[in-house]
Amino acid sequence: MTDSVLNYIDGAWCASGTNRVGDRENPANKKDIVSRAPRSDQKDAERAVAAAKRAFASWRLVPGPKRGQMIADAGRILADRKESVARLMSREMGKPIAEARGDVQEAIDTAILVSAEGRRIAGETTQCELPDKFGMSIRLPIGVAGIITPWNFPVAIPSWKIFPALVCGNTVVLKPAELTSACAAEFVKCLAEAGIPKGVVNLVCGAGREVGAALIGHPDVRLVSFTGSTEVGKAIGEQCGRANKKVTLEMGGKNAQIVMEDADLELAIDGALWGAFGTTGQRCTATSRLILHRPIAEKVTARLRERAAKLVIGDPVDEKTQVGPLVSESQLGKVREYVDIGRREGATLVLGGDVPKDPALANGWFLQPTIFTGVKPGMRLAQEEIFGPILSIMTVDSFEEAVTVLNGTDYGLSSSIYTRDVNRAFRAIRDFEAGITYVNGPTIGAEVQLPFGGVKGTGNGHREAGTQVYEFYTEWKSVYVDYSGKLQRAQIDT
Ligand code: UN1
Repeated sequence: MTDSVLNYIDGAWCASGTNRVGDRENPANKKDIVSRAPRSDQKDAERAVAAAKRAFASWRLVPGPKRGQMIADAGRILADRKESVARLMSREMGKPIAEARGDVQEAIDTAILVSAEGRRIAGETTQCELPDKFGMSIRLPIGVAGIITPWNFPVAIPSWKIFPALVCGNTVVLKPAELTSACAAEFVKCLAEAGIPKGVVNLVCGAGREVGAALIGHPDVRLVSFTGSTEVGKAIGEQCGRANKKVTLEMGGKNAQIVMEDADLELAIDGALWGAFGTTGQRCTATSRLILHRPIAEKVTARLRERAAKLVIGDPVDEKTQVGPLVSESQLGKVREYVDIGRREGATLVLGGDVPKDPALANGWFLQPTIFTGVKPGMRLAQEEIFGPILSIMTVDSFEEAVTVLNGTDYGLSSSIYTRDVNRAFRAIRDFEAGITYVNGPTIGAEVQLPFGGVKGTGNGHREAGTQVYEFYTEWKSVYVDYSGKLQRAQIDT
């Protein structure tokens, strides 16, 4: 069954003015057309921004607790539909069904967390230097937010951005990845059914070059939140900088897991398998490098290889499947190029590297879990984000060397160390250049109550989730109330 997706502009589901649509095939079986979505253009985006701008005038005045209540309701509606949305996601994006349920759950968790913020959005009160004078700071919404989201977390990532934007009193135009338009529409339906007024949330499906560019370039879009590739993110950052727009960028990662000789090795292997091959390696947080302490390197590599070879590749809606397809033919092509690059650079391919032989998988974009050993820090395999099921193993002689290797990339999203030595664990927490550090856990699996984002080339200093996200979606106002009845001059009459 093909899901017909529409845009959602000013409270109405509608086709694009272009009348163009695009089909999305199931990445596990290209014969299954999962969805047909609008290919919108600048005009559609402009209509959506105009609606969002109109809606902002009243939405910003709705009491925070009421806005929070609607978000809680949207979360409950999504929870009721968790299974059907997860099934659609599994077909549309290709992640194994258990992971698709996790993706939806992450959005439900975000709704629960963010809805309560409607009762807080806290500022501060403070002392003033003059008598009979009161000082406080309050947070105010900013206006229309352009939200540009990737295909790898088709519901969770929109929720990280849209719920906080709304609870603070902003209005939103969402431009989801073209590959996962149907999932985005399911998410927006929950908000619409929760009673969010017309124009407050808008959905415009289409290409980044058309819809995304129109949002970023639109003078009435005051906030831009982007998760996606480094190349696109940097260009968006430049453009927003010139237009003096607030922008949050969450781009690539080249996350590493260190395993020291004192670690629980089987646990470390559990972590590496999940971190590297979960979501077929298509997470910003995926474990792309495994840094092994030399005394245990050979043993861990052999055992990892043995276990990775047994991972079940298959149709993601099948509960038994552990590794689904890549999201698209072009993504598969890009990832396969890295297999060639690794070989050319002199790394040793010890597992996978090819499409699976099973004829049942011939209609999908599958790749075997792939492991390279002998990877050196300067290799492209060790430096560039691959976004696929390729794990590069590197060997080091000391904890200090492990830290240097871990830090030796342009990125800084997630990181992990397996050790039983508490001193090493705390040094890792202090010294890893990353926005997220796990001790005895894999690099994936962030929870929404803590800030999410990275250092160095991964982002531009902002964080999503946690309590930190509200920094982005509000602007501070300082307020002074002088109830002395006379002119009091700060810094002078004190
Ligand atoms: C991403 O890949 O951009 O921490 C998000 C994790 C998930 C979110 C990943 N909770 O792996």
